[in-house]
Amino acid sequence: MHKIIHGDCREVLTTLDIPKIDCVVTDPPYGVAFKSTYGKDPESREKFQQEIEDDMDVETALASFDVSMKAMLPHLADTCELYVFTQWQVAPEWQKYLASLAEFDIHLRQCIIWEKGYPGIGDVTYNWGCGHEFIYYLKKGKRKVPYRRSAILHVDKVRPGTNVHPTQKPTELLKILIEYSTDPGQMVFDPYAGSGSTVVAAREVGRSGVGIEKNASYHAAAEHRLSEGSLLDGW
Ligand SMILES: C[S@@+](CC[C@H](N)C(=O)[O-])C[C@H]1O[C@@H](n2cnc3c(N)ncnc32)[C@H](O)[C@@H]1O
Repeated sequence: MHKIIHGDCREVLTTLDIPKIDCVVTDPPYGVAFKSTYGKDPESREKFQQEIEDDMDVETALASFDVSMKAMLPHLADTCELYVFTQWQVAPEWQKYLASLAEFDIHLRQCIIWEKGYPGIGDVTYNWGCGHEFIYYLKKGKRKVPYRRSAILHVDKVRPGTNVHPTQKPTELLKILIEYSTDPGQMVFDPYAGSGSTVVAAREVGRSGVGIEKNASYHAAAEHRLSEGSLLDGW
């Protein structure tokens, strides 16, 4: 099963009928009012410079995420590993929230550093560009540890101009997370699917994948990505 559902994950999750989720890989709105500066012409500026829903501040982002997290709980398998992307400016708030999920037996275990190869342009009035993001790792249950590895991952970010979403994550990075935390055929889920990168990555490594995306144009882009190569795996 590989699909991206169009809708608000907070609502869709309440009626979602899928097998239990073995791994969540998600890149929700962080709450940093992100707006891409990319775009060579009016058409690409319109495509890439859209604001992301619920991203205006960390309180809004976390309030939204909390609703989707609570709606996800009944869908999680007894052993499930979760990866949640964020960045340093809002990491304290996200870390505090994610640690509170221990109440549901979901334990925050690591902060992975994704080193993205090169920084974005960002604010050029100071010296250091941001060439990394954080990926919080949480674990429910006692899935066997395959082997221990460093929590610093070096994978180049998606090159501007080749992306279909302003905060698109590289499938090579997502595949590392998915392969490390699931067995072939297991279910990977992303409630904030954007252009569908998690589901595309899941399919590439032989896992099932379901995502939800609220924005109609990103949902269409995700469906298009999934339709490419769908004949290869019989989807
Ligand atoms: C940071 S982006 C994810 C990008 C994705 N990782 C990719 O590679 O394309 C977050 C996405 O969540 C979507 N979103 C925000 N609120 C949502 C909600 N309540 N339900 C579903 N999607 C939502 C936004 O439209 C946005 O595309």
